[in-house]
Amino acid sequence: MTNWQIPIEPTDLDTGLLAVIKGANPGPTIALRADIDGLPIQEQTALSYKSKNPGVMHACGHDLHLSSLLGAAYQLNQQKDQLNGTVKLLFQPAEEEGFGADQVLEKNVLDDVEAIIGFHNQPDLPVGEIALKAGTLMAGCYHFDITIKGAGTHAAQPQNGTDVVVTQAAIITQLQTIVSRNQDPFHAAVVSVTKVNAGKTWNVLPETAKLEGTVRAFTEADAEKVQQRLIQIVTKTAESFEQTATVNWTRGADPINNDPIITDLVKQGLTTEISQPKLTMTAEDFATFETKIPGTFAFIGSNGSKNAHGVHDPSFEGKDETIETGIRYFVESGKSVLSGLSKA
Ligand code: NI
Repeated sequence: MTNWQIPIEPTDLDTGLLAVIKGANPGPTIALRADIDGLPIQEQTALSYKSKNPGVMHACGHDLHLSSLLGAAYQLNQQKDQLNGTVKLLFQPAEEEGFGADQVLEKNVLDDVEAIIGFHNQPDLPVGEIALKAGTLMAGCYHFDITIKGAGTHAAQPQNGTDVVVTQAAIITQLQTIVSRNQDPFHAAVVSVTKVNAGKTWNVLPETAKLEGTVRAFTEADAEKVQQRLIQIVTKTAESFEQTATVNWTRGADPINNDPIITDLVKQGLTTEISQPKLTMTAEDFATFETKIPGTFAFIGSNGSKNAHGVHDPSFEGKDETIETGIRYFVESGKSVLSGLSKA
């Protein structure tokens, strides 16, 4: 491979990078996006390309994404004489933390972008498969943080206080009735309590208990309904035990909602057959871009074996050959969207 260089746009991103390929012909500006961050997980594979850093690994396969974008950068740069417009190559930081896309938008470096294209590898799909559809694909993500306050006392004299641990247990159980009893069975939602904290020792009933977790839903209306019911259950349950409780509700990634026109242009450009993706309750901060810029997000197979480990698993194995499909996806869809928008 000969030496090649693409101009980097100054962005002030902490760890991200934006490069720009200006085509020879006039046309729109689009962005191809890959997330680049790893996870604080000790890798348990024997792969030749496993993490060299203890305690951190690419358990979500973002290394596949960024390698694909780098390969696409090389190919598109070679073909820039035929390109109708400009391609911005976005190597986005902090996807896992959920604020990377916001950080990119705040720097105003995508203000001139008319379409944005991304993908995530899927270990349950065979290498080479591209799954794509218009409309919703991944759920919106919400975080809740609950604090229960009661009166602490000696563990042997519960009658002298109000036990927050019992309340905490009741709330955990009650929250599981939201999806099963309040939510329309045809509207998917998830409520998961993931962090439970109370007390410091065995013979004292504590005065405070905490719960944390996440809610997933595909529409704003569903998320609001779950939120209202969650707050009601938490506060009323605490009240019934003569305690108080507060809920801190934070909104994370929006649902992925693929633009029909951009999705169609991508489908027209791809030379391989496209399959229908399965909806997933996991979230992606690519959705943040889609709230501002018409975009599309695909799933690309990265393993496909029967017992393939999922993403965020210490034994996750994203096959190297995925990169070939990733490069083709970015190059073909990028060119097709540039041409399609030029004609529009
Ligand atoms: Ni990921």
